Amino acid sequence: MSKSAEIIIEGKKYDLPVIEGTEGEKALDISKLRAQSGYITLDYGFKNTGSTTSKITFLNGEEGILRYRGYSIEDLCDKSNFLEVAYLLIYGKLPTAEEYDQWIYDIKMHTMVHEDIKRILEGFPSNAHPMGVLSSLITSLTAFYPESLDPNRSIDGVKLSIVRLLAKLPTMAAWAYKNEVGHPVNYPDNTLDYVSNFLKMMFALPAEKHEVDPVISNALDTLLILHADHEQNCSTSTVRMVGSSHASLYTSISAGVNALWGPLHGGANQAVIEMLDNIKKDGGDVEKYIKKAKDKNDPFRLMGFGHRVYKNFDPRAKIIKKHADEVLAKLGVEDPVLEIAKKLEETALKDEYFIERKLFPNVDFYSGIIYRAMGIPTEMFTVMFAMGRLPGWISQWLEMRENNEPIGRPRQIYTGENVRDYVEMSKR
Ligand code: SDX
Repeated sequence: MSKSAEIIIEGKKYDLPVIEGTEGEKALDISKLRAQSGYITLDYGFKNTGSTTSKITFLNGEEGILRYRGYSIEDLCDKSNFLEVAYLLIYGKLPTAEEYDQWIYDIKMHTMVHEDIKRILEGFPSNAHPMGVLSSLITSLTAFYPESLDPNRSIDGVKLSIVRLLAKLPTMAAWAYKNEVGHPVNYPDNTLDYVSNFLKMMFALPAEKHEVDPVISNALDTLLILHADHEQNCSTSTVRMVGSSHASLYTSISAGVNALWGPLHGGANQAVIEMLDNIKKDGGDVEKYIKKAKDKNDPFRLMGFGHRVYKNFDPRAKIIKKHADEVLAKLGVEDPVLEIAKKLEETALKDEYFIERKLFPNVDFYSGIIYRAMGIPTEMFTVMFAMGRLPGWISQWLEMRENNEPIGRPRQIYTGENVRDYVEMSKR
């Protein structure tokens, strides 16, 4: 295959090097195009533009493939656990038994947060959305660990920040929920595994004995694995962009939390449940909502459907849908919106509008149904997404910094006014 492509601009030929990835993906390297031709490329939403090369996650949207460091998510969901997957994403290999034990120990030793974080938390009104609380508390870590602000910090120094983030995010997330419901916060219990510890911090009450249901903790561990990374999505690109200015890992991750919050991205899991509840309230008329989703004059979108990359079934949605049936059955939970979701999916996948646009259920379509069955409130759904995506954001930030990638600074095409003289107020 030719190692370059030729383009002709205003009669002049230019050779663009061709980059080929491990799985055969190809790109034109345009890094010298402006210097040679004066032209830039324009691609709203970067739908056709690569921002980097990466060894972390491979996804194939046409075939519905997702792999972390070469391992399929199907295999990892069957055989691994979330913290092992976090190690794999961040350090590029599965840990030995010794490395794994040290990793678990290190994370357990950092699950507590500074008591002053409780005072910051108490400053938020109970109606504060947990995603806003979480991004604020993550940013506050720069105050408690000012060494994290050193732009020239060694990668070893960053490793402590990595452990602190993985260890403290569940504590801060659970505390954000307790602040919302007006319950006292629970301190971490290091006798429990990572996910069970989070669930206990979320739901334990001082007045009652609390046992974590292994059905719930196992299902949540799988959901966190499925959300762990997804190459250059909106929030990951945000983490890379902020980190490229040599801002700290904490502030980069906080920026990623805020990008994920949007309803077109991670916020979709909350939007899906709100949509399903509305359809149920409106009599469960699925056909009516499919029609609304297709109507260009109607702002209604079928949340949890469609994806920038997957033009086939999102492999994560397949696994989550299977888990939804199993978890609800094991928990003895009857949620009528599960049937509405399945009917929506069945109807949409037979409809020309969705088929033509290759719109399939994505990771957010069924996840909220499982979260709700676990007792997790709707406004915490995107926090669960952030907890899952944290190791992916960290691994991508680390890769960008280890590769000494330049500060992100896209160009533009100016379409505003030509130069004009200032006009005195009296003459306007
Ligand atoms: C995530 O990037 C990632 O990897 C993200 C993520 C991750 O793990 O990080 O996978 C997580 O964010 C999943 C996506 C969650 N968002 C939603 O479920 C919101 C609903 N989906 C859409 O808004 C939309 O599908 C996006 C935002 C996900 C993707 O949008 P694109 O790729 O920019 O596609 P588009 O908006 O240009 O849509 C193409 C066409 C349009 O119709 P036409 O103009 O061609 O006539 O499809 C239509 C859209 O109107 N369309 C939908 C639709 N999604 C797209 N129509 C109805 N309902 C929908 N959900």
